[in-house]
Amino acid sequence: MLHQFWHNIRRTKRDFFQEEGHALHRVLGVRDLTMLGIAAIIGGGIFSSVGQACASGGPGVIFLFILCAVACGFAAMCYAEFSSRIPVAGSAYTYAYASFGELFAWIIGWALLMEYSIGNIYVAFSWSGYFTHLVESLGVHMPAWITTDYASCSAAAKMPSAGLKSKEMLAWNTAPVIMGLRIILDLPALLINVLITWLVFTGVKESRNASNLMVVVKLLVIVLVIGVGFFHVDSVNFKPFMPEGFGGVMAGVSAVFFTFIGFDAVSTMAEETRDPQRNLPRGMFYSLLVCTVLYILISLVLTGMMPYKMLGVDDPLATVLQYKGIVWLEYLVSISAVVAMASVLLVFQMGQPRIWMSMSRDGLLPKKFSEVHPKYKTPGFSTIVTGLVVGVPILFTDEKFVLDFTSIGTLFAFVLVCGGVLLLPRKEKINGAFHLPYIKPVYFPLILLLVQLLIMIMSPSFFYQQADNPVIVFYWLLMVVLAVLAIWKNWNLIPVLGLATCGYLLTGMSANNWFWFFVWFGIGLLVYFAYGYKRSKLARG
Ligand code: ALA
Repeated sequence: MLHQFWHNIRRTKRDFFQEEGHALHRVLGVRDLTMLGIAAIIGGGIFSSVGQACASGGPGVIFLFILCAVACGFAAMCYAEFSSRIPVAGSAYTYAYASFGELFAWIIGWALLMEYSIGNIYVAFSWSGYFTHLVESLGVHMPAWITTDYASCSAAAKMPSAGLKSKEMLAWNTAPVIMGLRIILDLPALLINVLITWLVFTGVKESRNASNLMVVVKLLVIVLVIGVGFFHVDSVNFKPFMPEGFGGVMAGVSAVFFTFIGFDAVSTMAEETRDPQRNLPRGMFYSLLVCTVLYILISLVLTGMMPYKMLGVDDPLATVLQYKGIVWLEYLVSISAVVAMASVLLVFQMGQPRIWMSMSRDGLLPKKFSEVHPKYKTPGFSTIVTGLVVGVPILFTDEKFVLDFTSIGTLFAFVLVCGGVLLLPRKEKINGAFHLPYIKPVYFPLILLLVQLLIMIMSPSFFYQQADNPVIVFYWLLMVVLAVLAIWKNWNLIPVLGLATCGYLLTGMSANNWFWFFVWFGIGLLVYFAYGYKRSKLARG
């Protein structure tokens, strides 16, 4: 029995890849994929959550941007290696299936649900914030109780020191009451979700066209903010560059990491891509590169234009421009934020059903999830369920919770992808396909030492504080073990560095984040053993 169990979860679907037919249209090229990547990456993060990160870290937050970009870069290389070998839809889920087997694939699929669907809840909330701001500036007033989420209002009402939460208090005090229940809901967030679900349902080509236009608009506006902002930077704001030390910088890890989430969504489009072995990796790298450069510049401009403490707002870009009296641009930024976030919603709403489709083909989810709509050629049922999974929690969760939840789930998925690459057998070189370069692991201990040296030079206080933090101590011990293993097994340095950097970002998560992560994880395992374990393709032989 136990033997059969291990046999089942260790078996992989390598043969299965060959059998699958392609029902989806192959319409996407490298430019479309890069645009899709940027569409997914630049959104709620840079327009909204980054404000909190700047307020805790000051201008030094750019180091966190660099760290997250490096971690995502390594993860992207591992994604690329996988997607060049396994060019079918499903993203990290499919890759985990190939390298770790069924149970781990299920776990990663479950974690990706946090990235795609839960992430979209945060973006829908942020979208609603900017949208409300925009229509208000056009003279249309929407009552606070239809533009705020219930959870934040009820939390604000429980803390009477709610001067800071005036919108939530206003919503709480003015909401209509039906049978003792206050009617408070974020209506714009719900409506944008319905609209996006419909767009995705009706076809990838149409979605791609809409998405490309949105990407161009948001890139132009962001470049404009950087260009104009550059002339308003006050060097006084850069002194000191890391006012709260590296600890302050790391406090923004969820918010900054969230800004990068999305490059991996490109890999879920494998079955709609022409020449996926060549185009998928390129699409991922190009989009990541463009966004990293823009993020570093914009965070320098933001923290250079305004004292960092004042940036802890939901709409930091608009706030900075207002502070400097650049009203015309403030208006443009609000419009582009609405556009940018809609494009993020679109890409993630396209990605999630394709992961479910793959899981359903493996028998881990009911067959209905892999049904392709006869007319639109999209996974219709999965698309509707995604709409519900994003839409229903909008009624009872709040922004901060979903932000942390998304970041921890995605980092976890990246760790599994990097780990998965280490278990892959060497492959033959195929002309034109991406090939992860092999770098000897002996450099790993040297890099670890170099990093400690850098921390000591840049933030001596943080260097010594590390010893007082059990999570950090645990992390460095793990790194020593990883270094020994890597050298012993002759592992490629690139995925090892992916594990190390993504793992380091995970040390920034709070105990509360971990608690909810494990609850989520436990529910996922229950679902697997109740359904997929018995019904999967592997279980049925
Ligand atoms: N990176 C995406 C965003 O910032 C998830 O909205």
